[in-house]
Amino acid sequence: MSSADIADIHLVDVTKSYGSHVVVNKISLVVPRGEFVSILGPSGCGKTTTLNMVAGFQEPSSGEIRIRGENQVGVPPEKRNIGLVFQNYALFPHMTVGENVAFGLKMKRKSRAEIEDGVRRALRSVHLEGYETRYPKELSGGQQQRTALARAIAPQPSVLLLDEPLSNLDLKLREAMRIELKEIQQALAMTFVYVTHDQEEAMAMSDRVVVMSRGVVAQEGRPVDIYQNPASAFVADFIGKSNLLAVKETEKLNGQLRLTLTGGLTLIAQPATSAPAAKVELCCIRPENVQLAAPGEISENLLTGRIDKVVNLGAHVDVWVDVSKDCTIKAQLPLRRLEGVNVGSDVRLRIEPKAVQPLTV
Ligand SMILES: Nc1ncnc2c1ncn2[C@@H]1O[C@H](COP(=O)(O)OP(=O)(O)O)[C@@H](O)[C@H]1O
Ligand SMILES: [Mg+2]
Repeated sequence: MSSADIADIHLVDVTKSYGSHVVVNKISLVVPRGEFVSILGPSGCGKTTTLNMVAGFQEPSSGEIRIRGENQVGVPPEKRNIGLVFQNYALFPHMTVGENVAFGLKMKRKSRAEIEDGVRRALRSVHLEGYETRYPKELSGGQQQRTALARAIAPQPSVLLLDEPLSNLDLKLREAMRIELKEIQQALAMTFVYVTHDQEEAMAMSDRVVVMSRGVVAQEGRPVDIYQNPASAFVADFIGKSNLLAVKETEKLNGQLRLTLTGGLTLIAQPATSAPAAKVELCCIRPENVQLAAPGEISENLLTGRIDKVVNLGAHVDVWVDVSKDCTIKAQLPLRRLEGVNVGSDVRLRIEPKAVQPLTV
């Protein structure tokens, strides 16, 4: 058996069109049991549509959706054994927390004892013991979202689908809930498919991130690999911050590449993966990989420039350096390097060849 056979969710060339508008274009995806996968992409790229097809609220125009190996064509949502936490999937306001969480268990016609036990366990998982008799309006935003989570996990679905569940919460709560969600997922060993447009959220929680752009998968992989080796300018730009510099010419050296930028500057790149086969069009440099060179330092990729802009962000400083007439590089420097970093000062920057990522598109 291949991993796809035993996967909790398997999408095969799934496409969804509205008239001539192709919203999801031949997406294939395998989600093994117990994995936390995020589908990450900008608004309108087709994330919710993809999730709705897995849930059964929408049918694919073509392609196949398998859940635990079973083709789901014609299987209604309530028969898919999937839990849902959607941003607009509000709690029932006239029901208590306990009644909300019991809802799915009642629908499944569980016995009274099973319902009580299920509610107790679900509330314990989300740290809401003792809240059974409260009404939603008596809860904070975070508690409401945890109740929605408890309601979804109480019937013990094999898979939980979450669509931007934290986007209505303020930043502090969102950050706390990220950690909590990940801990809950691990404690339950449940498969999570998590949709978000927030790259930090996806990076912080996921075993694997699937980056979507205009209905297709732009890249998928572990968060660290996607960050360090973006496959395209879109991914480099969408995930984290990056300098994207246009490359005019590429010369292969011994395991390295010499990139001549459009403005004439040259950079040595040492790609982590093998050298790209296609023509290099751009290179990506993360601002935190741009350093100030020590006086008299000699190394590869030294660039001289003048500081154009400095923004002190407390934890670090963002500095924009004009290294040629038409090339500005953004550096993220630790606060202790602030001395001599003023607008108009001349500085020398150093970039390690490993931090220069060639991109073919
Ligand atoms: N029922 C529909 N009819 C026509 N177009 C739709 C429908 N649902 C979604 N779309 C379009 O599909 C695209 C993707 O939508 P959606 O999956 O909601 O994106 P996301 O969740 O990534 O923001 C959007 O351009 C949206 O306008
Ligand atoms: Mg959406």
